[in-house]
Amino acid sequence: MGQIIGAAIVSHHPGLMQCEDFRKMQGAGEDSSLIEGYARLRKKIASVKPDVVVVFDSHWFTTGFHLVDGGKAFRGTYISDEMPWYLHGVPYDYRGDPELALEMEAVSREHGGYVRAELNPDLGKQYATINLIKQLHLELSDIPVVAVSSCQNCDWHHFLESGASIGEAIRRSNRRAVLLASGALSHKFNSIDWKPNHPRIFHETNVSRPENVESDKGAIALMQQGRHDLILERWDADYRRKPWEAFGAHYLQMLGALGGKECRAVGEPMSEYENARGTGNIHIWFETQRHLRADQPAASNEFTLAQA
Ligand SMILES: [Fe+2]
Repeated sequence: MGQIIGAAIVSHHPGLMQCEDFRKMQGAGEDSSLIEGYARLRKKIASVKPDVVVVFDSHWFTTGFHLVDGGKAFRGTYISDEMPWYLHGVPYDYRGDPELALEMEAVSREHGGYVRAELNPDLGKQYATINLIKQLHLELSDIPVVAVSSCQNCDWHHFLESGASIGEAIRRSNRRAVLLASGALSHKFNSIDWKPNHPRIFHETNVSRPENVESDKGAIALMQQGRHDLILERWDADYRRKPWEAFGAHYLQMLGALGGKECRAVGEPMSEYENARGTGNIHIWFETQRHLRADQPAASNEFTLAQA
């Protein structure tokens, strides 16, 4: 019997793939807290020893199906067509899990859903997956990775349903899986000629709009309380109308796999909340095996998120 032994929202923003000197210069002398956050996530992942990592990739847009990259092994050199002047020459060499990908499709078909496995070895890669593989050392620890797309002609409930089928497939397998929702919360870019409000580029006052910061922090606070049900309750009227990366496909599919509105997995921030080109980024780890009861306090941690 398989199980989901941990989950996280993880930032993949390309500035984190710049060299340390450049990042520190951009950070007014101090690196992005997301870099240290990757180290914390590595420890969390190592502590639960997964058989597989499922990445909900908010850059892999598909039309018509939620696709699962079901290749057996992947090797190549990644270059981003978005910012090739610095994100290029990234070697990758990692294993996939075709059996699990096919099980995801099989469960979805049983449910009348739209998850399909794609086994073509030539399928391109996205940095929402590759950056996490590099930063979280997944290839070094030889953990297979299964990437899941963000279908762009979906309503938000379709993402929950896709995630539910994926979660059921994991439970039917013998895999102990970690889920990574790779993406930002609010995702509105600053203009090309924008001037920073704060000398530390990562500072939250550089996020595109104050109302996006407020909305992101509201969602983060609910995640820290394990109240994903309230996030879903507010999704249609509020979060769906905010510019979440990939319409929230990464978070919603992860949440669907964790039980949707029944999920009470408590979120523990692994970094500060930071700007990247106007988008709102944070790493949050979710304890999927310790659910909060009504009489328990929410998890405390070293990151105090200022009230928006
Ligand atoms: Fe992104």
